[in-house]
Amino acid sequence: MTILVTGATGNVGRNVVKHLVAGGHAVRALSRDPQNARLPERVEVVAGDLSLPVPDKEAAIAAAIGEPIEFVELSEAEARAKWAAEGLPPEVIEFFVMAHGNPPEAAWTVLPTVEQITGRPALSLVDWAAEHAHLFR
Ligand SMILES: NC(=O)c1ccc[n+]([C@@H]2O[C@H](COP(=O)([O-])OP(=O)(O)OC[C@H]3O[C@@H](n4cnc5c(N)ncnc54)[C@H](OP(=O)(O)O)[C@@H]3O)[C@@H](O)[C@H]2O)c1
Repeated sequence: MTILVTGATGNVGRNVVKHLVAGGHAVRALSRDPQNARLPERVEVVAGDLSLPVPDKEAAIAAAIGEPIEFVELSEAEARAKWAAEGLPPEVIEFFVMAHGNPPEAAWTVLPTVEQITGRPALSLVDWAAEHAHLFR
């Protein structure tokens, strides 16, 4: 059996890969940038991007709760003020701004990678939204 690791080049995934390889497992790793993955030689690195555009996320959640919803993007200043009002410390706010700020188009372009790798369609956000609809009501 080959184990697919998404996020394999990140802080968490890199350690998952290391332990799987040490345990003798066959590992396939997903990365948007396989050339720079820097994973152990035995690991098969495949290219893919798992992000989903905002309008698709919005439609999936709206369908799950049976009500129209509107995505309202906060400005950076509004987001900072909201997180500060929630009591988040300044260093966490800086991290969130860095993590959420202005992602490139590649970060929300959807590719058929999961199906190509696993041979079956990925679970969709529609499935996830249906399971979690109560959290949005
Ligand atoms: N590290 C922590 O202490 C911690 C704590 C709590 C929760 N988490 C959560 O655990 C997850 C992993 O954390 P991390 O620290 O390992 O993150 P990280 O170091 O930033 O790594 C992110 C990983 O996700 C991949 N990735 C990002 N966007 C992608 C996309 N659109 N399609 C496919 N792959 C994508 C990256 O791969 P490529 O760049 O190679 O494509 C990379 O391997 C995150 O969701 C994080 O919020 C982490």
